[in-house]
Amino acid sequence: MSGGRKVRTGVLISGRGSNLQALIDAAAADPAFPAEIALVISNRPGAGGLERAAKAGIATATIDHKDYEGREVFDAALHDALTEAGIELVCLAGFMRILTPGFVARWEGRMLNIHPSLLPKYKGVDTHARALAAGDTVHGCSVHYVTAELDDGPVIAQAEVPVLKGDTPETLADRVLEAEHRLYPQAWRTAAARLLD
Ligand code: GAR
Repeated sequence: MSGGRKVRTGVLISGRGSNLQALIDAAAADPAFPAEIALVISNRPGAGGLERAAKAGIATATIDHKDYEGREVFDAALHDALTEAGIELVCLAGFMRILTPGFVARWEGRMLNIHPSLLPKYKGVDTHARALAAGDTVHGCSVHYVTAELDDGPVIAQAEVPVLKGDTPETLADRVLEAEHRLYPQAWRTAAARLLD
């Protein structure tokens, strides 16, 4: 029994934070949601998502990778900020830095990522253009546990969207993004509930 306890979640972002917003809205909409966002960290100063977090009364931090000599030191700073805030679960939401195997190992089973493709298809970047170039008729997004391999790791949930005639990478990205906003809160709920079990 969780007794109403909420899993303290840290969200890592690099940009506009529309997925972060979907997580904020989902937690706000359900008093029984099994998780709460306790900290939002951006590696880019001025990322739009920081504003969204502040508006929702959530603590924010900027840890600019450019201030650190290499990935190990940057990841150590991230880890310290997360542990100091008592974070138990990490959601990567448009966080565009590759994390070191050491950092990933420390958060094994407790770090999620959303990726704009139906994994294992199209790991990495330019997923929408690649789906179009391949002539796919179905595309989508995935939320998975993060492992040392990029965009790999056990999938928690996926959502499909149709590829329509005349789609460009931009129109397809918009359709996938809407699906992301529905999918990520569901997957966050699932992963948090597993930790409370
Ligand atoms: C989202 O489409 C997310 O799936 C993607 O970046 C976008 C962030 O948008 N993530 C990746 O490509 C990670 N490899 P947002 O800042 O509005 O949430």
